[in-house]
Amino acid sequence: MTTLSHLILAGAVTALATVANANEGDPERGAQLAAQGDGSGAPCLACHGADGSGNNAAGFPRLAGLDATYLARQMLAYNNGERVSPVMQPNIDNFDAQQIQDLAAYYAAMPVPATTTSTSVSEEVLALGEKLANQGDWDNYIPPCSSCHGPGNRGVGETFPAIAGQHPNYIRSQLNAWKSNQRNNDPNQLMTAVAERLSEEQINAVAAYLGSQSATAE
Ligand code: HEC
Ligand code: HEC
Repeated sequence: MTTLSHLILAGAVTALATVANANEGDPERGAQLAAQGDGSGAPCLACHGADGSGNNAAGFPRLAGLDATYLARQMLAYNNGERVSPVMQPNIDNFDAQQIQDLAAYYAAMPVPATTTSTSVSEEVLALGEKLANQGDWDNYIPPCSSCHGPGNRGVGETFPAIAGQHPNYIRSQLNAWKSNQRNNDPNQLMTAVAERLSEEQINAVAAYLGSQSATAE
């Protein structure tokens, strides 16, 4: 083997080993960390709830049942500045990569709570949201959310998070965060391209509709 290919192979093996380590989170350690907090911030359950269901009025997302790799990537994004949130970031900035994996494993393993957000919006608004979510708005080059977020918008793998049953206030805040450059970690800027084309009316409608949907398939 030439030195060059040897080096490349060694590099690939190291990269693989790093990925393997990074994916191993311990949910029991994660539970302890969630209850303790990182020493300077608040414990996770103070905001995200003991069952990981979050809170619509306060804008705290549901974490329970989201994909572990997705969750870990988001926590790292707060710490490296790709996601800006003065409320969330101080709670995890003292955790190292392993502790973040543990927290992610803990929340990913939690049962998905029933959708609790009651919608006070009209049938028309819900219908507009439903159309966007499942058919898109091709006149404005907006693909259906479900084309990426999967059947029922319940998420696909580690890349496309579940958005059905997520809290409307949180969905709205994230779409606006992409528009205003406060969230920049989406792969290939897939979400930036979608969010930029959504009107305020569409954002409110799709958030209300998704929040009213079940996060589980039954
Ligand atoms: C003071 C309230 C508060 C505390 C405590 C808190 N969070 Fe958060 N968390 C938030 C808010 C608000 C957001 C949404 C921020 C934004 O707009 O990006 C958030 C977002 C998140 C997200 C992104 C979810 C997604 O769907 O992308 C993760 C993951 C997360 N928090 C994990 C944690 C963990 C783990 C802890 C404990 C170590 C924790 N949070 C503690 C308020 C809090
Ligand atoms: C072309 C693919 C694509 C389409 C279409 C798409 N999304 Fe996304 N969406 C993504 C990806 C990828 C992410 C994860 C971004 C990241 O890792 O930060 C995401 C994340 C999100 C999140 C953040 C969830 C969380 O837990 O923080 C929301 C909210 C969201 N999308 C809403 C929508 C809505 C509403 C639509 C339809 C109007 C839509 N998306 C259409 C690819 C897409």
